[in-house]
Amino acid sequence: MEKTPKRYLITTALPYANGPLHIGHLAGVYVPADIYVRYLRGKGREVLLIGGSDEHGVPIAIRAREEGVSPKEIIDRYHELIKHSFKDFGISFDIYSRTSNPTHYALSQEFFTTLYRKGVFVEQESEQYYDPEAKQFLADRYIVGTCPHCGNEKAYGDQCEKCGTSLNATDLINPKSRLSGAAPQLRATKHWFLPLEQYQAWLEQWILKDHQEWKPNVYGQCKSWLDLGLHPRAVTRDLDWGVPVPLPNAEGKVLYVWFDAPIGYISATKELTPDWEKFWKDEDTKLVHFIGKDNIVFHCIVFPTMLKAHGDYILPDNVPANEFMNLEGDKISTSGNWAVWLHEYLEEFPGQQDVLRYMLTANMPETKDNDFTWREFQSRNNSELVAVLGNFVNRALVLCHKYFEGKVPSPEALLEEDRAVLEMVHAQRKLIEEAIESYHFRDALREYMQVARVGNKYLADMEPWKLWGANPARVASIIYVSLQVTAALCVLGRPFLPFSTDRLEAMARLPKALWDDDLTGILKPGHELGQAELLFARIEDATIERQIAKLQAAKQANEAKGNKPDFPPQKDLIDFETFEALDLRVGRILTAERVPKANKLLKFTVDTGIDRRTIVSGVAEHFAPEELVGKQVSVVMNLKPKVIRGVESQGMLIFAQDADGKLVVVAPNREVADGAGIG
Ligand code: 2FM
Ligand code: ZN
Repeated sequence: MEKTPKRYLITTALPYANGPLHIGHLAGVYVPADIYVRYLRGKGREVLLIGGSDEHGVPIAIRAREEGVSPKEIIDRYHELIKHSFKDFGISFDIYSRTSNPTHYALSQEFFTTLYRKGVFVEQESEQYYDPEAKQFLADRYIVGTCPHCGNEKAYGDQCEKCGTSLNATDLINPKSRLSGAAPQLRATKHWFLPLEQYQAWLEQWILKDHQEWKPNVYGQCKSWLDLGLHPRAVTRDLDWGVPVPLPNAEGKVLYVWFDAPIGYISATKELTPDWEKFWKDEDTKLVHFIGKDNIVFHCIVFPTMLKAHGDYILPDNVPANEFMNLEGDKISTSGNWAVWLHEYLEEFPGQQDVLRYMLTANMPETKDNDFTWREFQSRNNSELVAVLGNFVNRALVLCHKYFEGKVPSPEALLEEDRAVLEMVHAQRKLIEEAIESYHFRDALREYMQVARVGNKYLADMEPWKLWGANPARVASIIYVSLQVTAALCVLGRPFLPFSTDRLEAMARLPKALWDDDLTGILKPGHELGQAELLFARIEDATIERQIAKLQAAKQANEAKGNKPDFPPQKDLIDFETFEALDLRVGRILTAERVPKANKLLKFTVDTGIDRRTIVSGVAEHFAPEELVGKQVSVVMNLKPKVIRGVESQGMLIFAQDADGKLVVVAPNREVADGAGIG
């Protein structure tokens, strides 16, 4: 068992102040971090939650240029929006700072100078792209070209977003300046490099040997970087937006955004408290970075190397990075307006922060990318928050009002079934605690909801309403036990549902209780409850349909702007006879099942109007078999039968493939007779 640290320092990736926050940010970073710190506070631990806006880097400069305003105008606008959205959503930062602050400029320059004086950097002249028309070097995203790995024509000078490869601008085929569209020239320029390769052996020991407990996705990414071998990385750029390099003869050069941004965690702490050094320099602090998967290398390799080279600072104990949250089957895209924006959600769902927090936790992309759908949002609200948690709490409070005038009754001797419920609370607390401490927030939430499920079952089994006439003393015990569970649900739910648990606390007039208090003795007999109100409200179909329509409209507007997805060019022409030889019909899927030991294959029975036949398709990664049963599909009837994995496939089903590779069924726009011809 790990010894309890003296204090915790929890950081959250600093979002770029060049756009609003969306559910992807929340699910990846801020909701898990907030659960973690609210839990630690409930345990009475000393903890700081640090956040802030990342206000440098090319993305901000580009956004400013696109809008014809200064970078300062952009960061001021989005910093305010982001900061307020976080506050309204209940992310409980101790400070939400920004990297344009003077404290940050001073500290990041001081950091650079320390490394410089220690002789850590390697100074190197190299050839970089330069735009002769704009008279500017083209750092990172100022340059676009074709990715040498996947052929994407819109790859950036630092990364191809299509295949995820990190690139150097000089790797791009046909590079173009995003400023003028001109073909860039190579020009010599001097930069300072962090020689990561000198830290390779140390990093291998520190990560691969000493931190085998890190999440597999994080550990795996670090391992593959280390296996490939580390190289020097430039920590300066030729740019007019950023923290100036604090050296003589470095005009026009700024610190690379990924050098200054993580130092932002330190400068924000310094801004918050004169005690900041205790948090950053004492080995008894547990430092945890919450980030998304695209930030792993910077937080696990580059920043720790900077901290190690500096020598005064502690290193992170863990970096629990999450994967990505998609939206309705597609990647979230800020430029494509394919997102659920936090500030819009807060306006459109007032008072319902916890519903989104619940959904994002229950479906958190902890080990793989996950999908947010509005339908799931609705069903999790209606059948979990309303029907399980809200229902139990409401029944307990209402029954107490009905039979005992809202005063907690004195129990008679508790029976075994009562004690079992109270013991369950203690057991669940332990499970929730273990899950949170190991960054398994979905499991933690599930174990929490289990408390409410057991509470509901207890009330349903005990049926106090049937006992009132004959045995009011027994009813007193049942209500007493139910109210203790209600109070425990309040304390244990604070990390996940801070708004609802505040309301519950007020409703039941609960005395302040901490996580480790005697959770089943919080409400004393005679304690007077307040009025019961519903904690959660049903979400109706119309509400969800409005959100789905809004997304569709965003997609159409985006496509109308010409942001069409890339599809392969047209195939060679065929003559009419070849086309006519094809026998296409509408069939109906009668059964669908997986083909044993073949991950990609589904085996269908299809009613084609003239027969029932077996067809095998490689679509198992796109559909659950049951979701296709009963659907009409287009069938190629006269394809020669073929044996696939021991099953004879008599034809082919037709699917459309979207830009992101997702398949959808191609079917008539209304039902037709099975077997109807297509042509
Ligand atoms: O990926 C991003 O959005 C970066 N702005 C995260 C920076 S995290 C930290 F280093 F500040
Ligand atoms: Zn690529």
